[in-house]
Amino acid sequence: MTFNDRFIRACLKQDVDRIPVWYMRQAGRYDPEYRKIKEKYTLLEICRQPELAAEVTMMPVRKLGVDAAILYSDIMNPVASLGVEFDIVKDVGPVIENPIRSEADIDRLKPIDVEGDLPHILKTIQILSGELSVPLITFAGAPFTIASYLIEGRPSKNYIRTKSMMYGEPKLWNKLMDKLGDMVIAYLRAHIASGGKAFQLFDSWVGALSPADFSKYVLPTITRIFAELEDLDVPKIYFPGVASGELLPTLQGIQADVIGLDWRVSIQEGRRRLGERYAVQGNLDPFVLTAPMDTIKSYAKDIIDQGLMQNGYVFNLGHGLFPEASIDKLKQLTEYVHEYSASVIAQRS
Ligand code: CP3
Repeated sequence: MTFNDRFIRACLKQDVDRIPVWYMRQAGRYDPEYRKIKEKYTLLEICRQPELAAEVTMMPVRKLGVDAAILYSDIMNPVASLGVEFDIVKDVGPVIENPIRSEADIDRLKPIDVEGDLPHILKTIQILSGELSVPLITFAGAPFTIASYLIEGRPSKNYIRTKSMMYGEPKLWNKLMDKLGDMVIAYLRAHIASGGKAFQLFDSWVGALSPADFSKYVLPTITRIFAELEDLDVPKIYFPGVASGELLPTLQGIQADVIGLDWRVSIQEGRRRLGERYAVQGNLDPFVLTAPMDTIKSYAKDIIDQGLMQNGYVFNLGHGLFPEASIDKLKQLTEYVHEYSASVIAQRS
């Protein structure tokens, strides 16, 4: 089979024959076959079996016809190597036994040893890079988002303890951001050395900050991560998560290729706030997938029409898929994005 590089081309703002599609959280519970595997193994057990993790990564590529795979893993996996014990609890998310709250807790975090502690993740990437006919996206959680789990100990609505460290003990906060920044850099570098073809940095919850606080407490680390990974010859995506529209103008200096948008800001407005540099990815509200197919298509059409106004557009959702999504609708949506965008592009040439 020939390699489908449409996703890479779009990330680099090159010409494409049709708009590439992938979905955040495309490997998951909406798929009965995945749910069956989950009856036997937990997420972390799947991640520790490279053949199985590779299989779960490939399932949505086969079933949905998407143009990229995303590694089956979780943003919490690398923190195991720092010495943090956690669990992924069903219907809750990451839960940390001993949250990180004092300077001693931060000092205890070890530097990441990807080859030593997370060889299963690299092995999964190696298997996939030999088998896939679409690019493999690997990922890491960004420092703010990981810190929010480490400090709160579990998913949070208002990030009270996280913000309390950020405002009250900025030296500690910066120390933690530095350590998590180092973790992300080494982790993603190892992914790409093992065969990853692009990466996404997930900052799912950083939209909880004002642009001024984001610029002061988080952006320096994001800027450093992309600067230190600049030499990697793969597309680099930053996803500033939900409700991040107000942060977009502050991102203009980071050395990423693509910025992920949530659905609260249109593609056109997102591009305006970001400036010329970046390709954009997004941004269908995942819950629009509960609507009838015609409604889903009309939302998608509006997004695609804006995406097609300039090179550098990847279709995705504005946040991850939810468990109740239907495979059949996702498949139809993927086909629709491909067919509709191909017809518009064909008319132009
Ligand atoms: O996108 C993919 O298909 C690749 C796999 C992937 C998972 N987690 C597997 C997973 C990715 C990219 C992630 C990233 C992730 N994990 C993020 C960033 C993306 C986002 O949604 O903003 C975050 C915040 C997490 C932390 C996390 N892990 C949460 C909040 C949950 C949900 C808990 C629940 O049960 O509702 C998880 C668990 C998780 N990670 C699941 C999957 C497929 C679902 C539970 C399971 O199948 O065990």
